[in-house]
Parts: sequence; structure tokens; C-alpha cells
Amino acid sequence: MAREFTRVGVVGLGTMGAGIVEVFARNGIDVTAVEISDGALERGRATLTGSTDRAVAKGKLAEAERDALLARVDFRVGLDALHDVDLVIEAVPEHLDLKQRIFAELDRVCKPEAILATNTSSLSVTEISVATTRPNQVIGIHFFNPAPVMKLVEVVRTVVTSADVVADVEALCERLGKVDVTISDRAGFIANALLFGYLNHAVGMFEARYATREDIDAAMKLGCGLPMGPLALMDLIGLDTAYEILDTMYRRGGRDRRHAPAPLLKQMVTAGLLGRKSGRGFYTYERPGSPKVVPDEHTPLAAEAALADGARAIAKVGVVGSGTMATGIIEVFAKAGYEVISVTRGAEKSAKVCEAVKTSLNKGVVRGKLSETDRDDALGRITWSATLEHLADVDLVVEAVIEELSVKKALFASLDEICKPGVVLATTTSSLPVIDVAMATQRPADVVGLHFFNPAPIMPLVEIVQTIRTSAETSATARAVCAKLGKTGVVCGDRSGFIVNALLFPYLNDAVKMLEASYSTADDIDYAMKLGCGYPMGPFELLDVVGLDVSLAIQRELYLELREPGFAPAPLLEHLVTAGYLGRKTGRGFRDHTRR
Ligand SMILES: NC(=O)c1ccc[n+]([C@@H]2O[C@H](COP(=O)([O-])OP(=O)(O)OC[C@H]3O[C@@H](n4cnc5c(N)ncnc54)[C@H](O)[C@@H]3O)[C@@H](O)[C@H]2O)c1
Repeated sequence: MAREFTRVGVVGLGTMGAGIVEVFARNGIDVTAVEISDGALERGRATLTGSTDRAVAKGKLAEAERDALLARVDFRVGLDALHDVDLVIEAVPEHLDLKQRIFAELDRVCKPEAILATNTSSLSVTEISVATTRPNQVIGIHFFNPAPVMKLVEVVRTVVTSADVVADVEALCERLGKVDVTISDRAGFIANALLFGYLNHAVGMFEARYATREDIDAAMKLGCGLPMGPLALMDLIGLDTAYEILDTMYRRGGRDRRHAPAPLLKQMVTAGLLGRKSGRGFYTYERPGSPKVVPDEHTPLAAEAALADGARAIAKVGVVGSGTMATGIIEVFAKAGYEVISVTRGAEKSAKVCEAVKTSLNKGVVRGKLSETDRDDALGRITWSATLEHLADVDLVVEAVIEELSVKKALFASLDEICKPGVVLATTTSSLPVIDVAMATQRPADVVGLHFFNPAPIMPLVEIVQTIRTSAETSATARAVCAKLGKTGVVCGDRSGFIVNALLFPYLNDAVKMLEASYSTADDIDYAMKLGCGYPMGPFELLDVVGLDVSLAIQRELYLELREPGFAPAPLLEHLVTAGYLGRKTGRGFRDHTRR
């Protein structure tokens, strides 16, 4: 028989605690909600009321339900109020000594059979448990932010947590409508161990002025389908909490430099810029606690103003190449009203590309996304050619040929001879240095990277890669073109992986390392990222879709350029590639796709 939980206690009503109170009270469980002072208690109460009022306003909760929910919560100052609860969840700041003091006190106050749980993200549950006389009844119950929304709970059992306590907590999670994964006590558990290296890397990019906060966030949202960009997520987590999590993970998790908190974080925390909860972090919010971002001195100028800023007029565009990317890019430009000259290496290839573009446009018509007239007009704007000299009078060339530097350099040298002055020359490379391509011409100031995502007609993001020689005019032109294509252009420097791949692939590689270390299963790791962080796919699903060979190549490039030891490709990834398990395309990668 699973244990009955009729009353639970929550200690600390900050970002997480207030949400955890809501989760219990929504599910009919009485809660004693404890804070350290009257002021903090009132803030916690206000957070809960604000959240439930918003749920009512959105029609997700009836008024009577809200009133019943609030009536289940008893707000108190001091731990003594917890003498009669069946379970306590502690959600105070991420400091070991503070948590240990609280657990020693809870051990004294709570009834002997009560379960004591911590919501810690990175501290050792084992170390917290030994502050009590009942370490076998101590467990980690790690909720995700915002607790009422995110489905995942990581249940952390130490070597002494008793099996029935684990089973009771798992049953409780189910009652709360959550999906739980039970794991052992390791720094960062599953989700944070994979998330925080990525978040810290994004802060480092921002700190190095590699890209703006808006562009870093837009890149990860639009390029990977994440619910939030990394800097906005840092603001939601709270920069003080994030700092402590990183610091603990660095110390507990093998001193991986990627977890050494970016210096900027410490400065922001010291300056009181804690994120949403203080009203200002990477972004500025309407008021403390508000999710609404308001413009500040770093907010970019309105798009039109930026576009007027020296962009050249572009009417005629050349697209070189005959692969998937070239085909998609031809369609994108033609649909946006540009006159397009497609150049391939022969009439046969041109015919194939033409067929592929027609098929794709026809699909748009069938799906009701494009009228027949628009399709015909788009096709009418495209000229098919196998002669590079036909690009003599275009205004922009987009190169999308094979990912080999020698081929691209030779092509750019030819374009340099053929094209008229003032043309913008763009490469769609996803891994080669744009500057190498630029220096193959006599006009490196006119060369820029335009990194489209696959499938180009659908993916809304383009990374605009500026080399140290790219002129402001070229960059402005690239931004204006992206806007006309209806894409979000994000501007970044010429570094391996640009924004998206540099932030994405080390995370995928870390997931492989976690699997290799047998900390968890591919299924649980995928669940953790989808249900805990709202990712559209788990890392192993995504690796199988992208292709393990492609992923390994990108990871190797990142490692070679940045020499970051943590970026070394996971041996398991290398072995799978060697074995020919490349993902969906070969029927087998991390999962066997031949069996249904
Ligand atoms: N922020 C997140 O996204 C997130 C997600 C999952 C887990 N966590 C973990 O949850 C815990 C809380 O983090 P947070 O972000 O909610 O912190 P927070 O700073 O927002 O809130 C902490 C609260 O604890 C209260 N408190 C401090 N000392 C207390 C005491 N002695 N008795 C009672 N209350 C006390 C504070 O007044 C404050 O309201 C941490 O262990 C953190 O790692 C955080």
C-alpha cells in the first residue's frame, strides 16, 4: 500500500517553492507553506495568487477551484509549523550549509515517519541527508521551472534512501500528474547536467559580444524549436540560483571548465540583476516578478531603422549549387519576389533542381499555402543555367555547393572575376570559416555567411556570419534580404558552429557521454529534456534525425577550433559512426528504426 500524503510542507516560497505549493494544492493536497519572515511569506503568497489569477484569466482554472486551492494552503513563518506534515519539500537557496541546517531542524520538528525532500538542482542529496538522523527517509524531488507547467520530476535516490520511500514518492508524482525519472545522486542529475553547460556557454558568447542577447535567444528558439532562448531562460531560473548551480556542478562534476560560471554572471548577481524576480537580468522586465520584457538601452533599433542603414538594393539573385539547400534557397528567393538565376554544373542537374522546386511549390498549393498564380509567378522568376558567367549582373550570389573548402574557394575566385562590383557574395557553409572563402576573392568586404537551415522554405532562421573583413554595408544588406525573405536573421561572428551548432552539439555530445557512463537510459534522457525543459525532441531522437556522422563531424570541428577538452567527441558517438549506425538514414543509430 502506497503511503497517504494528506498534508505536505514546502520550505522557501521563491521561484520554485511557490510553484511547488501550487502543484500540491491544485491536486487536492493540503500544504503548510513556510518562509523565513513575514515579508518573504507575503511575497510567496503574492506569487501564488498571481499565478492562480492568471490561470483563471486564461480560463484554465475556475474561480471556485482557485478559491479551494488557496484555502488548502496554510502560510506560516518558521519550521515549527511543519510538525504534522507527511512530507516536506525544501526549496531554499542553493547553499549546502543552509540546506543542512534546515534539514537538521526539520528532523527535529517533523514526525518520525515524515519524508524529507530537497528540490536542490545540483547539491548532493546524500550530504544533505546526513544532517538528519533519518537519511533513509531523505530524497531529492527535483521540479522544473515553472513547476505547475513542466511535467518532469527527477526523483533522486541516494545509496541509503529506502526503496519504499522511493516508491511512495514515485506514486505521489503520478498523483500530481507528473512524469518521474528516478536516478542516483550526481551533480545536476539528468536535465541540469545537460542544460547548464549550454546556458553558461551562451552567457560566454554574450559576454564576448559574439552576438546580441536577442540574436542568441532567437537563434536557439528558431533554429532548434526551443521554448525559450538561453538568456531568457537564465532570467527565468534566476541568475543567483544559476550561479550557485554552475559553481556546485563545477566543483562536484569533475571541474569541467564549461561549468565554471561565466564572470559576467557573478557581476550581475553582485549588482542585484537576478533576472525576472528582481525585474532585471539579461533583459529588463515591466516590474519584479513580471514575465513581460520592456525595451531598455540594449534593445535594438526597430527593424526598419536598422535596414535603412546602408543596405544595398537587391533585385537579382544568383544561387549556385544543386543540392537540398540550393533547391530550398532558390524557392525561398523566388517566392519572396526576387529574380533568381540558378547555376548548376549541367543541364541534367538543372532539370532535377527545377523538378524539385516545382514539386515543393506544388505541395504548397495542395496545402493551401500558396495560390496557383503565386506558384507560377515564382517559377517564372527563375532562370536555369549551367554557366557561371550568367551571374555577371546579379546583385547577390548565394553559394550552396558541397562543404569542401577547396571547392568553395575556387568558386569564389571565379565569382570574383565574373560578378560586377558591389555584389554581395554569400556562402551557406555551416562549418567552414567564412573568412577563408572571402580571402579567395579580391573583395572580402563584400563576402558574408548566410547560413540557412534545412528545410530552407520552412525554417525561419538565417545566421548572418560577419568576418573581420565584412563591411557594415554588406552586413546591412544581408539583414535586409533576410527580412524580405520573411526570415529572422541573427548576426554572429565567424566562429566554428556560429550560434546554433556551437550551442547545440556540445549538449548532444554530453548526452551521449551521460549514456555512455550508464547514468541513465536514452529514453529517460530524452524524456528529461522534453518534459523538463520543453525541448521538441530529446537529444537521442535529434541525433538520429540529424545523422550521427554529421553530428560527429560538427563536434570534431568545434573541438579542433576551440580546443575545449569538454568538446571532445564522445567515444560512443565515434564507435556508432564507425559501425555504420548513422541514425534514421541507415535504419539504426541510438535506436533501431527498422522495428516499429
Ligand atoms: N530556479 C529554478 O529554475 C530552479 C529549478 C529547479 C530547482 N531549483 C532549486 O530550488 C531551490 C530554490 O531555488 P529558487 O530559485 O526557488 O530560489 P529563490 O531564491 O527564488 O527562493 C528561495 C526562497 O527561500 C527562502 N528562504 C531562505 N532561507 C529560508 C529559511 N531558512 N526558511 C524558509 N525559507 C527560506 C527565501 O526567502 C526565498 O523566498 C534551490 O535549491 C534551486 O537549486 C531551482
